[in-house]
Amino acid sequence: MAVTDLQERTPWVDPLEGIDFSAKNIVVLVSGGGTNLQALINAQERGELGGGIIKCVISSRPDAYALKRAKDHGIPTRVIQRKSFPDVEAYSNALIEALYQEYADLVVQAGFMTILAPSVCRAYQNKIINVHPALIPSFCGKGFYGLHVHEAALEKGVKVTGATVHFVTEVCDGGPIILQKAVDILPDDTPETLQKRVMEQAEWKILPQAVKLFCEGKIKVKNGKAIITE
Ligand code: GAR
Repeated sequence: MAVTDLQERTPWVDPLEGIDFSAKNIVVLVSGGGTNLQALINAQERGELGGGIIKCVISSRPDAYALKRAKDHGIPTRVIQRKSFPDVEAYSNALIEALYQEYADLVVQAGFMTILAPSVCRAYQNKIINVHPALIPSFCGKGFYGLHVHEAALEKGVKVTGATVHFVTEVCDGGPIILQKAVDILPDDTPETLQKRVMEQAEWKILPQAVKLFCEGKIKVKNGKAIITE
């Protein structure tokens, strides 16, 4: 068959047609239930992620329920298990490689419970955000994660707590603060009831909001502080 015949039968199609190159690729890191991931998926489906697209969900645990949430919505998943690597550095290098392969523009730690090496923060400076279930600088840093954060808030007897979304730096929970939302503590609260209310009233709201702001290019970091330019 002559080349011209073939061209007529199979007209040339631009393989890049329809791809929005301005859309930000989001990679979400998870370790557990994935309710914050769900909030991001819901926001994406409502068109409220500022054009960002959840490209991939990476879990540090093979049994994380968050993986099912991703699969149910057709989002590709990967598992990079900490115990498959000899140390934090090797684990972090594997993660960086995966983030490069996914062309990540933004990395979101949504209940990601594995400590990473400074190499990850350097590779993605001001491009990794984390949600923490307290008003930083209260109840944060090493050892403050998940339910422990709420136990500590109740133990101290604070009347108000909340959630924080911040950029990830080499200092644990110490990076520039993007958004915070306060939540009242009620007299009969247990760590579990408080965790649920902080998630519902704060985390599931401010995490998608921060991702939207990032994807719209509305967050600048100056002198260690995040500035939102609406
Ligand atoms: C969330 O409350 C998140 O803020 C917290 O773990 C929970 C994960 O829930 N993260 C940390 O404590 C990190 N320091 P999820 O898996 O249902 O999103």
